[in-house]
Amino acid sequence: MQPTSAVQSLWLEAMPTQGYPQLDGDITVDVAVLGAGITGLTTALLLTRRGARVAVIDANRVASGATGNNTAKVTALQSTMYSALERAHGQHAAADYAAGSAAAVLQVATLAEQEGIECDLQRRPAFTVAASKTELPEVHREGEAAASAGLPVMWTENVDLPFPVAGAIRLDNQITLHPVRYAHGLSEAICRAGGHIYEGTRATGLHEGRPCRVSTTGGTVHAGHVVIATHYPIFDRGGYFAQLEAIRSYCIAAPVRGPLPTGMSITAGSPIRSVNTYGGLLIVGGESHPTGARGVNEQCFHRLADFARTYWEVTEITHRWSAQDPTSYDQLPVIGRYTPISWGVYVASGLMKWGLAGGTMAAAILADLISGRQPEPWAQRFNPYRISLRSAPRLVKMNAKAGADLVIDRITPAEVSSPAEVPAGEARVVRDGLGKLGAFREPDGTLHMVSLRCTHLGCLLRFNGAERSWDCPCHGSRFDVDGSVLEGPAVRPLPRRHPAKSF
Ligand SMILES: Cc1cc2nc3c(=O)[nH]c(=O)nc-3n(C[C@H](O)[C@H](O)[C@H](O)COP(=O)(O)OP(=O)(O)OC[C@H]3O[C@@H](n4cnc5c(N)ncnc54)[C@H](O)[C@@H]3O)c2cc1C
Ligand code: FES
Repeated sequence: MQPTSAVQSLWLEAMPTQGYPQLDGDITVDVAVLGAGITGLTTALLLTRRGARVAVIDANRVASGATGNNTAKVTALQSTMYSALERAHGQHAAADYAAGSAAAVLQVATLAEQEGIECDLQRRPAFTVAASKTELPEVHREGEAAASAGLPVMWTENVDLPFPVAGAIRLDNQITLHPVRYAHGLSEAICRAGGHIYEGTRATGLHEGRPCRVSTTGGTVHAGHVVIATHYPIFDRGGYFAQLEAIRSYCIAAPVRGPLPTGMSITAGSPIRSVNTYGGLLIVGGESHPTGARGVNEQCFHRLADFARTYWEVTEITHRWSAQDPTSYDQLPVIGRYTPISWGVYVASGLMKWGLAGGTMAAAILADLISGRQPEPWAQRFNPYRISLRSAPRLVKMNAKAGADLVIDRITPAEVSSPAEVPAGEARVVRDGLGKLGAFREPDGTLHMVSLRCTHLGCLLRFNGAERSWDCPCHGSRFDVDGSVLEGPAVRPLPRRHPAKSF
C-alpha cells in the first residue's frame, strides 16, 4: 500500500511494480536492518560487502518513506546548518558535521559508480540564498561558519534564479539524483552480495539479547545486531520520543516554459523555498510545520504552486508530495548505540531533512560500529547519549508542547455529535459518549471511523487535510483514514469503529 501522502511523488512513479517478498517464517542473520530507506539500505550494503548476513525489513516498500519523498539534493551545504551548529555546539561540532556530510556525498557517488546504479546522478552546485537584503547577514554568517567548518564555499551574487537574490554562498560539485532509483540500486546490490530484503513486513517488537529477537508481522528475526533505521525510532526504550520532533514539509513539480535553474538552492529566510530540477521539471519545496499541527490543508501545496507561478511560466503542476523528518532538540543527528547499555542495537535518526547525505553518513558510522572497525573521529559527535546543555531549553519546550497537546486536545469539545454530520470528502472529530472518534467520509459516501488515540503513547490525533491522514502532534505518527499506520513511531493500527448503517 502506498501512503496517502505519497501518491503523486515524482520519485515514487519509478517504483518497480515487482516488489520484494514479505517475510514468511523465522530467520537467523548477523544483522537485521529495520527500514529500507537510504539509511537502512546503505548500512545493509556496507555490511553485506564486509561479509555479514543481512536482512532488511520494511513495513512498506523500499524507498516508500522520506527517501521517496524529498527534493533529491545530496549536499554538504544545507541551508544555514553550519551557523546553527556553531551557535549551539561550537566550531568543532560544525567541522565534524561538515566532514561527515562531505564524506557522505563522496560515498553516494562512489556506491552509485561501483554498483552501476542508474539513478541520473549529476554533479551540481548547491546554494544557500539570501532572497532579500534582510537575509544577507544570516547568509554571510553561514558562509563564514561553513568555511570555518572546512567546506570550500564561495560568495556569489550570480545565481540563475528568477526571483531576487541579494547574495548567496555556493558549494560546487554536490549531487542530485533520482532517490528511488538510487535506493533500488542499493537494494539490488545488497541482494547481489547475498543479503535479503523483505517488504510489507512491519517490525513490532524487539528483545535485545544474544541473539536479539525482532518480532515482525511475518515471523521472528534472530540477529546478532539490529539497526533501527525506521526514520523515527520505533521502540521507546531509548527515550527518543522525548528528543525528536517530526517536521513535515511539502513539494511540487512542474514543467515550465523557459530556462530552469542549473543549481540546487534554498532560501535562508522565511518562507523557506527549496529549488531543484529533474528531467525538465521544476521542483519547489517548503511550507514546513510540526507534524500534527492544527488546520493543515491543501494551502501548503497551493502556496508552493503560487511561488512557482510567480517566478516561472508554469504550464501545470504535475506532482505534489510531502514527507516529514525528525529533528533532534540540539540539531545534531542521533547515530549510534540504541541505549547507553545496548551492545547489539543501533539507531540513526534526527536527519533534519538532509538525510540523503545524513543517512549515508549514518550508515558509514553504524557499519563501522557493527563490524568492529574504528569509526571516523567525527562519528562520536552524533552519539545519541551526548548531553547538550545549551539546547536544554529547546528540549523542555518540545516536551512541554507534547504534554500540552496531550491534555488540551482531550478537553477540546468534539466537532460534531453524530457521524451523519460528516460531509463527503471531509473529516470530523465525532463525540462518542465521553470520548471522541475520528470520522472521514469518502466522496462516494463510505464512512471510516477510527479511535483517535495514537497507538504509540495515546495522544489524540488531528486531521491533516492536505494529505487525508490522522496525524499525531506528540511524536509524528500518522495513520490513514482507515486506521492503518502510515508512519511511526506507532507500529499498531488505530482500532476501527463500525458506524451504524444509517450513518
Ligand atoms: C519535503 C522533504 C524534502 C527533503 N529533501 C531532502 C533533500 O533534498 N536532501 C536531503 O539530503 N534530504 C532531504 N530530505 C530528508 C531525507 O529525505 C530523509 O532524511 C531521508 O530520506 C531519511 O531516510 P531514512 O532511510 O532515514 O528514512 P525513510 O526513507 O523514511 O525510511 C524508513 C523506512 O522505515 C520503514 N519503517 C517504518 N516503521 C517500520 C517498522 N515498524 N518496521 C519496518 N519498517 C519500518 C518505512 O516504511 C521506511 O521505508 C527531505 C525531507 C523532506 C520531508
Ligand atoms: S506518536 Fe507518540 S503518542 Fe502519537
